[in-house]
Parts: sequence; C-alpha cells; structure tokens
Amino acid sequence: MFEESSTTKNSAIIEIRKKINLTISIVTFVILTLFGIIFIFSYKPLSSFLSLLYNISFTYIISMTFLLGLICLYLSIRISRHVLRIIEDYSNRLERILNITRDLREEVYGDILLEKIMDYALSITWSEAGSILLIDENNNLTFKIVRGESASKLVGTSVENGKGITGWVAQNGFPVRLEDVSKDERFNPEIDAITGFRTKSILCVPLKTQSGIVGVIELLNKKDGYAYRERDEDIIVYLAEQAALSIIKTKFYEDQKNYEIHLTEMLLEAIDFHISEKRGHSRRVARYSNIIARFLNMSEEEKKRLYFASLLHDVGFLKIKSDDAFKREEFLKHPVVGYEMIKPINFYAEIAPFILHHHERYDGFGYPAKLKGEEIPLEARIIAIAEAFDAMINTSSYKVPVSFEEAKAELKRNAGTQFDPELVEMFVDNISQEHVIK
Ligand SMILES: [Fe+2]
Repeated sequence: MFEESSTTKNSAIIEIRKKINLTISIVTFVILTLFGIIFIFSYKPLSSFLSLLYNISFTYIISMTFLLGLICLYLSIRISRHVLRIIEDYSNRLERILNITRDLREEVYGDILLEKIMDYALSITWSEAGSILLIDENNNLTFKIVRGESASKLVGTSVENGKGITGWVAQNGFPVRLEDVSKDERFNPEIDAITGFRTKSILCVPLKTQSGIVGVIELLNKKDGYAYRERDEDIIVYLAEQAALSIIKTKFYEDQKNYEIHLTEMLLEAIDFHISEKRGHSRRVARYSNIIARFLNMSEEEKKRLYFASLLHDVGFLKIKSDDAFKREEFLKHPVVGYEMIKPINFYAEIAPFILHHHERYDGFGYPAKLKGEEIPLEARIIAIAEAFDAMINTSSYKVPVSFEEAKAELKRNAGTQFDPELVEMFVDNISQEHVIK
C-alpha cells in the first residue's frame, strides 16, 4: 500500500524539501551577515580588506541586521505554515485513499464498484465529467460508466483501442494530463460531437494490473477552469491501481456466481429428470422456506444460503437409482449422500449441514444423526417444514395430496414432535393460497 502510494508521497516530500531548503538558505544568509558584522567590529585590525564597509554607520548596519532578522522570522513562519498545510493535505489524502481502498476492496458487485470508482475520481479531482472504459472481448474500449452531459448516449458504445487519448492510454499504459486538449493531436473530437460536451482539460489514467491493462479512467474539465495538477495525477494513478485490482476481483466473483447459478440449475434439472415424481419439488420448497426466512428477518446472505440449501436438499437422490428412491432403506440414505456430494464444493460447503439434517425431527427421532430441538440447524428445521408441506399438498407427489388447510393442520399437529413449533406457527400464519405452486 505504502509502496504503491510512493508517487503521491514523493511529490509531497519534494515540495516540503524545497520549502525547508529555502528556509535554511534565508537563515544561513542572516547568520552569515551577523557574523560578518561581529567580525568587522571585533577584529578591526584584521579586517582592513573590508575597509569599504567602515563608511557605513554602525546604526545603519544594526538596523539592516534587525530588518533582515524580522524578514527571516516572517518568511520562516510563512514557510513553516505552508509545510504544515502540505503535510495536512497529504495526510488527508492518504486517509481518504485508505478509506477508498477499503471500500473498493469490499465491493463485490462489478457495476456498483465502477460507479464508486467514478464518484471518487470525480470528487477527488473536482472534474465536470468523466468516464470509465473497459477493454471488451474485441479489444475495443467500451464506455461502462459515463458522467456529464448526455452521458447516456455513450454508455455501452465502444471506441477503437489506440484511437483518441483514451485509446492511446489503453495501448501505451501511461497517464496523459493536458491543460488544453485541442493542442494535442491524439484528441478525438468525435465523442464531444456525440454528447455536445466541450472537453478542455483532461486527465486520463490506465487501469492496469501486473497481468495487463483492463481499461482507462478519463476525467474531463477540472472545475473553475483550473488545470489538472501533478498531485491530481498521482492520486488518480494510485486510485486506478486499486480500482483495476478490484475490477479483476469482482469479475472473478461474478464468474463464480455465474458458475454457481448454472451448476445449481443443472443439478435441479437432473433431479427433476431423475425422479419425475419430485419434479418442481425443490423450487417449491425454496419458495416455502423463504416465507419463514422473511418472517425471521434473515439477512440477505442467510436467505441466499437457505435458498440454495432448499433447492439442493434432495440432491442425494441423484446417486440413488430412481426405481429404488422410495424404498425405505434407500430413501433414508439421501441426506447423507447429498451432504457428501455438496460438501467438497467450496461455494456449497456452508449449506451441506442443512442438507444433511433436513430429515431430523424436533423430538430427536429423525435421521441421520437423531439431533434434537435446536441442535438441528435452523435452516434444516425450516426445510423440513417446507418439504413436508409440499409433499402433502402437491398433486405430483407420490402420496395422495391433501388440501391446503389440511396440510396446515397436519403441520400444527406435528409441531413440537416432528417440527419446530415456533417455525410451524410462523409458516401457517404467513402462508396463503397465493404462495402455493402446483
Ligand atoms: Fe428429503
């Protein structure tokens, strides 16, 4: 982190060093002058080569020394205050960068991440407009986020890599900072022609990681007509380094989500195909479980885990011959088999215990571990109710279906023995005919 921010640090240190050197020069000059005066008046015989100065009155020399001393004091105070301001400014920027870095690292959704990067870059540099362009599968630069006049006209459009200032930055990997874009031959006026925005100054920085360039951040027209300074460039270069890493991370996260969703879909289709009597059962259980989850005020993360556990609670049937699925001995195996299938997959690992225990009973007479009461994971207790309810009312079930009201009454009858009584109450009080999917 500190190595990465060395450019920002260096520009502040160089500025402080310059001010300190100036102070030292002024103080040295005054001290040498004072020594000169003392030398002249204390060793008159030895200083005949300074005879020219004898014509200057003692009072005049003392006054000059006093005046120089005052000027020195004044300048020292001014310079010290300036140095303090630089340190304060640097410290504030560093603190802000740390907060921004933390925020970006914690963000897992790509679109929100890009919005945040854009907001931070605009506010740090006081820019009127800006955009983030990412390199797409055709190696062109696509506008992902655009801020400023007619921004929506650009989102989703692409520019050729290598064309214009953004293209040059993406191709060469170096930042570009210009006070007047019209004087630079790389400037591409076509974009301004589309939006109607007039670009004057620009700061364009590559989004690069060790593995390459993923895009660029472009900031346009610093407010109040100022030009972008070296310090703006330093801080945006640092922000871009952090942003590029976060973009790669969210891309990886989104790829994993995509994989997780599609793998779950594949397993669901396989379960439906394998045991046609249970077609749609998993999705219905997920929907019924969610009624209790909402009532329990579960967090989004907890709801998501319960959702996936509900979808996959019967995945163990995939390893049991479909003809044997409802033979008691084989049927009893499915929670353990499902658990063993799911446990080694990292993103499912947390839901594996819910699958393992979804046939436990509240009174401890269930299977496979004969857990009792709250020893059974909450999610497994919820799935047990949702699964039983669906098995009772669904026409495609292997049992003879009962009515909606009869199923609720049956759950109530078994509350405290088979099911968690509090969860049953929540479920029967909150489920309505509209929730029921056939
Ligand atoms: Fe089951």
